[in-house]
Amino acid sequence: MEQAPESHQGAGVHLMALTDEVVIYEVGPRDGLQNESETVSLEDKRRLVAALRAAGISRIEVTSFVSPKWIPQLADADALATSLQPMDGVRYSALVPNERGWARFASAPALSVAAVFLSASESHNRKNLNCSIAEQLERIRPVAAQATEAKVGLRAYVSTVCGCPYEGFVDPAAVARLCRELLDLGVDEISLGDTIGVGHPAQIRALVGALAYGLPLEKLALHLHDTYGRALANVQAGYEAGVRIFDTSLGGLGGCPYAPGASGNVATEDVVDLFARAGIATGIDLDALVDTTAWLERDVLARQLPGRVFRAKLGERQISR
Ligand code: HMG
Ligand code: MG
Repeated sequence: MEQAPESHQGAGVHLMALTDEVVIYEVGPRDGLQNESETVSLEDKRRLVAALRAAGISRIEVTSFVSPKWIPQLADADALATSLQPMDGVRYSALVPNERGWARFASAPALSVAAVFLSASESHNRKNLNCSIAEQLERIRPVAAQATEAKVGLRAYVSTVCGCPYEGFVDPAAVARLCRELLDLGVDEISLGDTIGVGHPAQIRALVGALAYGLPLEKLALHLHDTYGRALANVQAGYEAGVRIFDTSLGGLGGCPYAPGASGNVATEDVVDLFARAGIATGIDLDALVDTTAWLERDVLARQLPGRVFRAKLGERQISR
């Protein structure tokens, strides 16, 4: 019998060779800490990034080069980013909203992925970036050109793909159009943000299915917030639809300050455990991660974190003591 090709493109659908491997993209230091009411010290941020790396996480979004007036919690972005050392097998990224952000990114040699961002809905884009979607695409254009020239990775977030806090329904066709424009600008990975966590598995399957007509599925990531408690189910749906890159946040930290009511990202521990139980390796040491989240909860944030597997593991540790 003839062997199926490793990668196949037919009828406009990009089908990747469906490997089992998944990539966990940790966004806790950025998405998580941007939404905390207290600003975490530079020393604790450095310790957090080191601990995540030591737990086996290979892709970490460490901070944002946005306006400190807009996100004061990450005002130490330059100090944090320039204090990191490049490490084999680890890719650090940071948010870059404009050329000013790019200049700051370019001063930190340990960073290897610039992450631009915009929304699929006009109202959220304006609240978050103070401009229209078209204007933000124009801000991204020179950043993309410079990132390509500097040979660093270029990731793009498209927010509100499952719904907008101000406009409600968002048309998947609008998401697809934006994704195509971003790929044309040279973006090599697009993270689809369910910013306010309203998506559900059938919607995720439909969205990914619609995007797979014309877009390379292997370049898509899912960035799922957990407002309605469906983020983990949405990860499973995304996996079944062919996505292999998932953004997560330790302990379920996270949220966009310009999307009222949104809660944290899907918890890293929940996703690592989900895949481990299905026999899919993530390369992440769950126990080491739980240690890190426990330290962050107890000694740094002094508030209870919502991650379900994290809480279950803490409970088990108490019993076995
Ligand atoms: P603006 O006010 O329209 O622009 O902000 P501006 O050019 O008038 O600048 C305002 C001030 O910021 C000026 O300072 C600039 O110099 C300064 P002033 O003169 O008033 O002292 N500025 C900067 N400073 C440092 N770095 C920069 C920079 N740019 C301007 N790069 C701007 C426009 C884009 C800066 C602002 O809207 C902003 O910072 N927005 C970012 C908001 C944000 O970080 N949101 C959260 C991240 S997105 C997210 O969480 C969603 C995601 O997780 C995916 C999902 O869940 O869907 C990614
Ligand atoms: Mg987010």
